[in-house]
Amino acid sequence: MNERIVSAKIQVYTLEELSEIEKNLIKLAQEATERAYAPYSKFQVGAAALLANGEIITGTNQENAAYPSGLCAERVALFFANSQFPNTDVQILAIAAQTGGHFTTECTAPCGACRQVILETENRYNTPIRILMAGSEVIYGVDSIKELLPLHFDKSSLIG
Ligand code: THU
Repeated sequence: MNERIVSAKIQVYTLEELSEIEKNLIKLAQEATERAYAPYSKFQVGAAALLANGEIITGTNQENAAYPSGLCAERVALFFANSQFPNTDVQILAIAAQTGGHFTTECTAPCGACRQVILETENRYNTPIRILMAGSEVIYGVDSIKELLPLHFDKSSLIG
């Protein structure tokens, strides 16, 4: 048997260490959490995507009494961005969450389904997406979703 060790390069920041553009995206993601529709989980997520044309698109989680019909904030933001600006790549995606009236202290990392959609967006535009996962005490950053989804399934997998 052989083993392959897969590692991820995750940057750990305080807010002050980020650029003004990145700080602003986190602020917008945090503000977006207020617009989440999360009556079931009470976990309100906001995402803010910076596009190559300078547009910033925010999204929030949208829950449903039929639970699987809901959608995460990241996919709401990316699907809207790709619908409105189908020829424009996404450069940075910031994610924040609040529950119980305050922002989570730890960062919120995208769920598996959102990782897959972020990967598709990277591949579609052939541009890595920087992801900032904000907690109130720590911010994690990665330069591509491939850090969070190292062994992935994409269009190259379909060729066999
Ligand atoms: N959620 C997101 O919107 N993004 C994430 O990265 C993690 C989870 C949502 C889905 C659901 O509405 C709630 O948070 C609790 O899982």
